[in-house]
Amino acid sequence: MVIRVFRSEMKFIMPYPDIQDLCISAARYNRDADVTGFMIECGGVFLQAVEGREEAVDTVLHRTRRDSRHHHIDHLLSIDGAARRQFGAWAMNLMFLDDARLWRRAVGPLKEYDDFLLRSRDPVFSLGLLSLAYRFACSAMEVDPAAVGLKRGRVPSAAQMLKS
Ligand SMILES: Cc1cc2nc3c(=O)[nH]c(=O)nc-3n(C[C@H](O)[C@H](O)[C@H](O)COP(=O)(O)O)c2cc1C
Repeated sequence: MVIRVFRSEMKFIMPYPDIQDLCISAARYNRDADVTGFMIECGGVFLQAVEGREEAVDTVLHRTRRDSRHHHIDHLLSIDGAARRQFGAWAMNLMFLDDARLWRRAVGPLKEYDDFLLRSRDPVFSLGLLSLAYRFACSAMEVDPAAVGLKRGRVPSAAQMLKS
């Protein structure tokens, strides 16, 4: 099992519904490949964790790299030989973190929100942020964060996320 973390930037401003569609489409591909993961968007930056069998993850990443809606795609972190999935609840899911109130609830210190563009290049910061956002999304959706294979491909709306 490998876990890979990527950072990329939107090439142009994408409306939230378009990003949600992107995520739903990604989740469909990932489900077929038995890949799970999570992503956040903040200030036009995507952070994404993808996990599964190495070949499956590489195939998914190949497709991701070819997507012309983003660029400056940086590979931040690779964990090989992981014993279990860290983002197993969904094939892919998404949390928008542009809203400072949501950031405070999901992550905590707003100092880190202000520094996001810079700090998101730091692999340790980014993995930690993805983990916090994943846990927040799981609790908002009443999904067990440790559950694997449940509700794969189900993508909640941002409204559901904000409701909790
Ligand atoms: C930030 C970002 C993350 C993506 N993540 C994935 C992914 O996890 N899995 C995947 O197969 N494709 C991923 N893609 C690629 C797109 O989902 C893929 O190109 C698109 O869904 C193809 O859609 P279509 O088959 O409907 O044309 C990602 C693209 C971007 C910009």
